[in-house]
Amino acid sequence: MWWHDAVIYQIYIRSFQDSDGDGVGDLAGIISRLDHIESLGAAAIWISPPYPSPNADFGYDVTDYTAVDPAYGTLQDFDRLLKAAHERDLRVLLDFVPAHTSIEHPWFRARPSFYFWADTAPNNWRDASGGPAWQRDPETGRYYLHTFSVQQPDLNWRNPEVRAEIGKALRFWLDRGVDGFRLDAVQALMKDRRLRDDPPATDPSVLPLQDEYGRLSHVNSANAPDIGVALRAIRQAAGDSFLVGEAYVPTDQLQPYTQTLDLVFAFEPMNVGPDAKLLETTIAAAHATGKVAWVLSNHDFTRFATRFGASFRAAALLFLSLPGPAFVYQGDELGMIDGPGVDPPQDQVGRDRYRHPMQWDPSPGGGFTTGAPWLPPIDPQRRNVAEQGQDPESALALFRRVIRLRGGLGPGLRFLASPGQTVMFQRGNHLIAANFGRDPAPVIRTGELVLEARRGDGQDPGFLPAGGGWIARV
Ligand code: NOJ
Repeated sequence: MWWHDAVIYQIYIRSFQDSDGDGVGDLAGIISRLDHIESLGAAAIWISPPYPSPNADFGYDVTDYTAVDPAYGTLQDFDRLLKAAHERDLRVLLDFVPAHTSIEHPWFRARPSFYFWADTAPNNWRDASGGPAWQRDPETGRYYLHTFSVQQPDLNWRNPEVRAEIGKALRFWLDRGVDGFRLDAVQALMKDRRLRDDPPATDPSVLPLQDEYGRLSHVNSANAPDIGVALRAIRQAAGDSFLVGEAYVPTDQLQPYTQTLDLVFAFEPMNVGPDAKLLETTIAAAHATGKVAWVLSNHDFTRFATRFGASFRAAALLFLSLPGPAFVYQGDELGMIDGPGVDPPQDQVGRDRYRHPMQWDPSPGGGFTTGAPWLPPIDPQRRNVAEQGQDPESALALFRRVIRLRGGLGPGLRFLASPGQTVMFQRGNHLIAANFGRDPAPVIRTGELVLEARRGDGQDPGFLPAGGGWIARV
């Protein structure tokens, strides 16, 4: 399997590279930056949804599953990107959004049976932002269901016609040559047949959720026991292409998803931050599923460098040394941090901070666009690809080194006892150690030093500096 130990690079298309000066990234822009992705050592790219969209949720509200939004280019541009990526042995994964469409999708009016409709809100379900999940449609006076924003009505996957239509759309892209899909919000695909209330949550959520939404346990509004019906329909359409699911559920609820999909994202460890023991337990649990992909961050959450602060490099070394595939979100390889966002906001639920443009060079615009960017750059003078590419001590250099090494680290994942805020584990004949604490820790390094998170981290074989990390061969 090509994805075994692969690094998959996430491209948030709008913020990656603009080629035509309209301030919005596009497909031609991606083509012009494949060098960077290749030199990072990634095996594949995941492209955020390029479909036509009124942008209530920037592509996650789709009006046509088999077209490209003109802001991003054309189908021909998409084919050119596929070809250019494949020529470099880079696989291409498309973000696919099966759980909901845009309210402007023609199906919403023409095919009402594709959605959930009711005369009055039939239950207590909440949407992801905490508001009611049922919205009155002024045109019909009836209520429709939306797990996300009111502009994203949920598709009814119990309707075989929905499954057939989505299957056709998946095959459309496979016929063009894509290698697989990142499947959006799969936990929302199947709901309770009788639309019963969600019971109150008994424990605080282990994953960040909006307050109102998190007060309920989503056993009926999502995660229905027959989720396999939807996943198998997708699998059937997708053949043996690669499927990674965004199942936003705790690790102990991933099993129904891992049964059919190749991989699911490891969201629990992603959310932990610099807490050594919690990192260890959540990583061990996720690894035990046998089917997780590590996630540094993505376009929905605090950036990796912001989450880890002073131990950012130790964290990068740790996450990229774990066995199994890892997803790197554009800019995390530079240590890009959360930005200020913009006023008025672009995103309805406050995620602009994680979506500022990629920083290619130290010019004020960071090389992202020649026009006015849709979100301002954060700090291209401080962090950019051009300068970090020349600097052996940079974050980018560290990412490149660990990624080059990770495939050869050896089998298994065995955590070893280690003091305080440190994590230590063994893979084959390699030892990996990282210190998330504020003080140096008495971590004994045996064997030959192979890689340091920062220069000097492995110098003292009896102490690991705060925020430091190393890999040793024993
Ligand atoms: C998860 C996506 O990553 C997020 O950006 C989007 O808002 C929701 N799914 C709804 O599609």
